[in-house]
Amino acid sequence: MSGGIRPAEPPDAAAIRAVHLAAFPTATEADLVAALDRDGDTVVSLVGETQGEIVGHALLSRMRVTGGGRDRRAVALAPVGVRPDFQGAGVGRRLIEGALAIARATGEELVFVLGEPAYYGRFGFSAEAAAPFASPYAGPYFMALALKEGPALHEKGEAAYAPAFAGLA
Ligand SMILES: CC(C)(COP(=O)(O)OP(=O)(O)OC[C@H]1O[C@@H](n2cnc3c(N)ncnc32)[C@H](O)[C@@H]1OP(=O)(O)O)[C@@H](O)C(=O)NCCC(=O)NCCS
Repeated sequence: MSGGIRPAEPPDAAAIRAVHLAAFPTATEADLVAALDRDGDTVVSLVGETQGEIVGHALLSRMRVTGGGRDRRAVALAPVGVRPDFQGAGVGRRLIEGALAIARATGEELVFVLGEPAYYGRFGFSAEAAAPFASPYAGPYFMALALKEGPALHEKGEAAYAPAFAGLA
């Protein structure tokens, strides 16, 4: 299937919402996208297209993270959704790799994700990398990827998601 990824634009909002309503069992993720946009916390928003149709979406949002007593530049990868009828065709991979490339190029130090270790491990995320950062989401599904080398990004600290995440299940 032909397709690619590109930055989301304001007229894409309805199609992005439809992707998440189809990909997830509840409207939580679709509402999260709208809340992050409203709050100005969206850092990167990418759509995945197949034959000109938006079938996937991935978002990076600003986090407040400290480590080793310093502020760290960090973003959260969430949500990532692909319409069920287009899953398994590489759209998710392209969106995630594209989002990570932008994060790296723009100087982010850490990316956090809450999700399936078997899937996000493919992109280098690990629970070990997230473990030094205190979070209400701490556990095997709370993973991180350090985009820069060195021990500094493994020092103890705290990782806080944007306010729109508060109250999510
Ligand atoms: C997870 C998701 C974004 C992946 O998108 P996608 O376009 O289907 O992914 P890709 O085509 O790049 O990769 C497909 C591979 O991921 C695997 N995969 C998909 N979901 C997975 C999961 N929850 N756990 C483990 N592996 C998973 C598939 O088995 C497939 O494996 P293969 O390459 O060995 O065949 C998509 O399936 C989706 O929207 N799922 C529902 C919503 C969701 O769970 N989002 C993630 C949490 S924020």
